[in-house]
Amino acid sequence: MTEPEPKPEPGAPATAAVSDLTGKTVILTGAARGIGAAAARGAVAAGARVVLTDVLEEEGRRTAEALGDRARFVRHDVTSEEEWQRVTDFAAGEFGSVDGLVNNAGISMATFLADVSVEEFRKVLDVNLTGVLIGMKTVIPAMRRAGGGSVVNISSAAGLTGLALTAGYGASKWGVRGLTKIGAVELGTDRIRVNSVHPGMTYTPMTARVGIEPGEGGYPNTPMARVGEPHEIASAVCFLLSDAASYMTGAELAVDGGWTAGPTVRYVMGQ
Ligand SMILES: NC(=O)c1ccc[n+]([C@@H]2O[C@H](COP(=O)([O-])OP(=O)(O)OC[C@H]3O[C@@H](n4cnc5c(N)ncnc54)[C@H](O)[C@@H]3O)[C@@H](O)[C@H]2O)c1
Repeated sequence: MTEPEPKPEPGAPATAAVSDLTGKTVILTGAARGIGAAAARGAVAAGARVVLTDVLEEEGRRTAEALGDRARFVRHDVTSEEEWQRVTDFAAGEFGSVDGLVNNAGISMATFLADVSVEEFRKVLDVNLTGVLIGMKTVIPAMRRAGGGSVVNISSAAGLTGLALTAGYGASKWGVRGLTKIGAVELGTDRIRVNSVHPGMTYTPMTARVGIEPGEGGYPNTPMARVGEPHEIASAVCFLLSDAASYMTGAELAVDGGWTAGPTVRYVMGQ
C-alpha cells in the first residue's frame, strides 16, 4: 500500500517571496548619502522606481544619476508640508503610483538632558518626528489610490532603549516608533503596512565624525563587536517594502548587531 501524499497546508505558497520590488514606486527621504543612499541602491537593484529626496541637492542628484533610469532626485525638506505634497505628486506623475515610503531623513545631536536647549530639542523633533508624520499623512491618500503600500520608518536603537546623550534624538526616535504603531493599527485594512527599522551604530557621514571605524572588532561594546554598514540596514528596509513582508505591520526591526539584545560577554565578565 502506498502512503498518501501529504496535503499542503491551507494557503501555503510554493516558495516564500523574496525582496522583489519590481513595479513598485518608492519615495525615500535623506537619500543623498549614508543609509538612505544604500536603501535607494538596494531598492533599485530589487526592481523599484525610486524618488530620492534630500536637502543636499548636489550630492542627492549625483546619487540618483548613478542609479540610472528608475531613479529621480527631488530637493525636499521633510519639515515642509508643501514640499511633501510636491514630492508625492511628482512620484505619482512620473511613475504612476506611490507604493512605498521610507522616512529616513534625520539629524543627530549629542547633548546631556540637563544641558540641551529647548531650541535644539525642537529642531531635532521637527526633522526626525514631525517630518515623519507629514510624510505619512501626505502619502497615505496616494497609497490608498494604489490599493495599499508599505511605509518604513527609520527609528534607531536609541528608540528602543535609553541612550545617554540623546535627549532630543532619542525622544524623536521613540516618537517615530510610536507613530509607526499608530499608523499600523489605523491603516491595516487599507492594506498599508507600517513598520520601523532600528539601526544600531552604522558607519555613515552622521557617525563617522564620532571616530568609529568599520570592521571586525571595531566596536567592542556590541555583541557582534563591529558597527553596521549602510547596506546591512538597506536589506531590512527592502524586505519590509516588499511583499515578502506581507503580514508584517507595526513591527520594530532591530538591525543593530545585537546591541539592544543585552550586554556583551566582555561586559558580563567585567573586561
Ligand atoms: N548611522 C547610524 O549609526 C544610525 C543609527 C540609528 C539610526 N540612524 C538613522 O538613520 C537615518 C539615516 O542616517 P545616516 O546615518 O545615513 O545619516 P546621514 O547624515 O548620512 O544621512 C541623513 C540624511 O538626511 C538628510 N536630511 C537632514 N535633514 C533633512 C531635512 N530636513 N529634509 C530632508 N533631508 C534631510 C541629510 O542631508 C542626509 O543626507 C537617520 O534617520 C538616522 O537618525 C542612523
